[in-house]
Amino acid sequence: KRVVLAYSGGLDTSIILKWLQTAYGAEVVTFTADLGQGEELEPARAKAALLGVKPEHIFIEDLREEFVRDYVFPMFRANAQYEGLYLLGTSIARPLIAKKQIEIARKVGADAVCHGATGKGNDQVRFELGYYALEPDITVIAPWREWDLASRTALIDFAEKNQIPIAKDKRGDAPFSTDANLLHVSSEGKVLEDPSQEVPDYVYSRTNDPEQAPDQPQYVTIDFERGDAVAVDGEKLTPAALLTKLNALGRLHGIGRLDLVENRFVGMKSRGMYETPGGAILIVAHRGIESLTLDRGAAHLKDELMPRYAELIYNGFWFAPEREMLQAAIDKSQELVTGRVRLKLYKGSAILVGRESPYSLYDQELVTFEEGAVAYDHRDAEGFIKLNALRLRTLAKRKARSGGA
Ligand code: ARG
Ligand code: SIN
Repeated sequence: KRVVLAYSGGLDTSIILKWLQTAYGAEVVTFTADLGQGEELEPARAKAALLGVKPEHIFIEDLREEFVRDYVFPMFRANAQYEGLYLLGTSIARPLIAKKQIEIARKVGADAVCHGATGKGNDQVRFELGYYALEPDITVIAPWREWDLASRTALIDFAEKNQIPIAKDKRGDAPFSTDANLLHVSSEGKVLEDPSQEVPDYVYSRTNDPEQAPDQPQYVTIDFERGDAVAVDGEKLTPAALLTKLNALGRLHGIGRLDLVENRFVGMKSRGMYETPGGAILIVAHRGIESLTLDRGAAHLKDELMPRYAELIYNGFWFAPEREMLQAAIDKSQELVTGRVRLKLYKGSAILVGRESPYSLYDQELVTFEEGAVAYDHRDAEGFIKLNALRLRTLAKRKARSGGA
């Protein structure tokens, strides 16, 4: 058996690597991606080599541009937020990792893929739906559902017996679990499990405490082309560079913190904390440029579709036809979502303060309270209201007749 493992280089996936070699007798191929999690990747190469992976079976790839361009930005065109709040930072990264694992499996002739997600969460579903959608007959290995290394002591024992290096701070149980990429960092479990208790300060790693953020607001402009952000303060940037820039601004001003109890696809509620500094700015900006350039019918339909679209991504159906159908509709709506917005960043919030576009549908002549516009005749409003009131008047009369209902 040859297995492509999604390998972070950390303790848990190193244990999985060894376990695949020993318990499964598998030849392991590692895949380590830079998704902007902010960790060096070369140590993962050295560690994989140390654990006996052949040099030609160690794959390391910088996926930051592809991640933002082909996953994050399409999702932001929809203003996707799961359960109204979660910007889907973990959910959107899984399909890309799954896709790369399958590509590598084909390249090296592997018949199996493996991930390090637990048997209780969403991520196992997302990885595996991705694998099966792209390679229907692939074998999936999910060690956390299979092995007997359930406790921390069993894991550490296994690591020691197999000469897996353990960082000093990794001996004990981590105080909470994290998942990070260029869009967000997510923290769950342990100290966060009681939803009545405020998240301790030390859990935050990507944003300043809004109370400690600068007392001076900062203004920033973001340019959009066809629904995607392309420049910050007039400077053109690639997708990953742009999100990196917004993350720095969001960090400084303490923007994008979220403490959430959410419904996992597998059925239970979980409490998590998210930091999505750049994403939180971007969604305000994108809604701002849409407010000027989208027709009401298009805008409202988009907002109706959004919860469905967000749920598909959350549940791991990125590669499903219904997600692609919704994406096509959303992308169509973005053709003229072009222009510039101006925001004020201040102590935890990104406030939209200005927007302009060559394709603006906003007509000051039409909306002004001053007398003027020829396209709008006040007398038309009278009939418009009367016809719309017809049902309501009929109902009111019946109510009077029937004495109530
Ligand atoms: N609950 C989030 C999601 O389902 C994050 C999951 C991974 N986060 C973590 N801290 N392990 O998308
Ligand atoms: C995990 O179970 O590995 C993380 C949490 C989740 O996927 O929901």
